[in-house]
Order: sequence, then structure tokens, then C-alpha cells
Amino acid sequence: MMIKINSLPIEQCNACPEEYSFGVTFSDHMFLQNFDQDNGWNDANIGPYRPLSLDPSAAVFHYSQEIFEGLKAYKDVNGGINLFRPEENIKRFNRSAKRMVMPEVDEALHLDAIKSLVKIDKAWVPDQKGASLYIRPTMIATSPKLGLGASSAYSHFIITGPAGSYFSGGLTPIAVFVSDEYRRAVKGGVGEAKTGGNYAASLLASEEVSKIGYSQVLWLDAVNGQYIEEVGAMNICFVYEGKKIVTPALSGSILPGITRDSILKLAPTLGYEVSEQKLDINEILADIDSGKITEVFGCGTAAVISPVGELGFKGNKHIINSNQTGPVSKHLYDELTGIQYGTHEDKFGWIHKV
Ligand code: PLP
Ligand code: COI
Repeated sequence: MMIKINSLPIEQCNACPEEYSFGVTFSDHMFLQNFDQDNGWNDANIGPYRPLSLDPSAAVFHYSQEIFEGLKAYKDVNGGINLFRPEENIKRFNRSAKRMVMPEVDEALHLDAIKSLVKIDKAWVPDQKGASLYIRPTMIATSPKLGLGASSAYSHFIITGPAGSYFSGGLTPIAVFVSDEYRRAVKGGVGEAKTGGNYAASLLASEEVSKIGYSQVLWLDAVNGQYIEEVGAMNICFVYEGKKIVTPALSGSILPGITRDSILKLAPTLGYEVSEQKLDINEILADIDSGKITEVFGCGTAAVISPVGELGFKGNKHIINSNQTGPVSKHLYDELTGIQYGTHEDKFGWIHKV
């Protein structure tokens, strides 16, 4: 299927602002296609960024049949624009679609849509290292019906916007609260799908911990309340004695992060050992307190590599690396962003040129 392009005249296009934070400013154009039972996916087009018109009874508003993705386009220091492993986001989008009983999107068309959209809005890709164009593919259920069941109509759209650091301090360590009260997801549920309800379910805990000085929640498994899963907007890694990186094994209830996977592949080439394990929160906290764990960091597309300087649990504060950014977090940040911005060789073939 061809993508119809209806771009704004150049004089109506905006340029990237000099200042931005994450997810509040959007580029001039968007991609949209619709699905119905008779035609399948149809009317793929790129046009001006605009409001959607939906029936108030649209299924997405009532039963949260929705999925999304997050990836970035980076200005390459040598010229051009880089996408980082977009095929992985496209595959995960279809896995989420399957889990939420939504129609899959043709992978080649999805990649073409992302590349074409970034090309049209290339003036919106920030120049500064550390900033990028955030890309948000989304699918919503649009059938106007209140009976509970999978929708028969869907919209798939992609919006983009310039993004700076997800956390206001950049590489400065954040404080994370381990929730003993709330649970995010359970094996057999939808925790490993990127669907809005997982995030809505996390908001109350996030609000509560932000009032006591924490910027994210670390979730424990829902059955035992004992094993570490992930953080609200990122996966989590623990560094033992500056050389071994340990992260929770994929459990079925956590998001299989693409940044997590990239670290598991990249770190061994930099001399680190890596391991995916079932991690008991009590053992991890004991290893932090004894100094065996020398660094903790979160990893995700929006979060990149975010050092964690403190874990709060059951009224106690566990301080990591004197609340400073450690050398391993910095090293991985430099190597990963080096590939993304073209200052380091892309040995894995992760970069797609736009
Ligand atoms: N876990 C959650 C809940 C997330 O929202 C994200 C961000 O997308 C991640 C982990 C990290 O995934 P990725 O590295 O693919 O962005
Ligand atoms: C991303 O990192 O792309 C995400 O989707 C996380 C989101 C909470 C901003």
C-alpha cells in the first residue's frame, strides 16, 4: 500500500524550537491509517498534525484497547538522521497488537511511514547531542460500541516531537521508590504489552511517591511482592563491583525493552559480564548496603541510561554510589548515544538512515 502525502506548504511549517522538554511539543505532520473489516488497513496518509474526530462511544475510551511505541530519530554528527533499531519497535507493536486483539500492521509499511514522516519533518530533529525527535506510533480501537468485545475498526497514527532529557537532571541520579503496596502487572496479564492501561494503573503510585521526593516507582512481582520487575518508564540494571551488569529476566509481566536488549548485547563487547536473573529485592538491597552493587541504572528510549542514586523501601533509604553517576552508567551512556548520534561505529547494524 502506498502512503499518500499531503504536506503543509513550506511557509506554514515550523522549525524545531531551541528549548523543549519531553513530550509537550509536536511536529507539523502525522501519519494516519484506518482499519475496518471490509477493507483491512486503508487510506495510509501523512498530513498536517491535527485533532482526531472520534465517536464518544469509541471502544478505546471505555475498555482501553490501545497500544503504543516509542523510538527516536537522532541528528547524526556526520550529517543525516538516524533511527535506532526501528524494526524492533515495529515488531513489538505487532506483539502488543496481538495481545490486545488488534490487527497487526505491515512491518514494511510501518517502517516506511516512520521514515517518510521523519523526512518530512526533518527540520524538527534537534541538533544538540542529548536531544532527539521522539516518535510515538499508536493504535486505538474506534468502533462505536459499548458491548464488551474486540473493536472492528481501528486507527493507527504516528506523531513526533522534539525531546530533551526525560528526567530534568539529565545524567544526574534519580531517586526511585520500591512499591510495597501497589502492583503493576502479573504474568498472564498485559504487562509485557505496551498498552496504555499499564501506565494508567501506575499513576496513583507515581503521584504518591513524587510527594515524598521520588521520581519513579520500582515494581515488584505481583505474586510474591519479592522479585524486581521494572521501573515505571524503563527497565532496571544493577552493576556488581563495576564489572557485572545484572537485570531481571523477562518474566512475562515486564516490557521487553529495546534499550535493555541493546545493553545486553553491547556491554559484553566493552568488557562487562551480563546476566538476566530473577532478582530478590531483599538480596539486592543487602548488596547495595554492603557495597557489592556499585551502580544502579534504568534504561529505556525516553530515559536513555538514567543512574539511580537511591532506592527507598519500607521507610529505609538505600544510597547507591554516594548518589553520584558511576563510571559504568556513564560509559554505557556514551557508547549507546555514540552509536545513535554517529560518533561511534555501529558494529551491530542498529542504525537505519532516514
Ligand atoms: N519499561 C517500561 C514500562 C517502559 O515504558 C519502557 C519504555 O518504553 C521501557 C521499559 C524501556 O523500553 P525501551 O527500551 O524499548 O524503550
Ligand atoms: C519510552 O521510553 O519510549 C516510553 O514509552 C516510556 C514513556 C513512559 C515515556
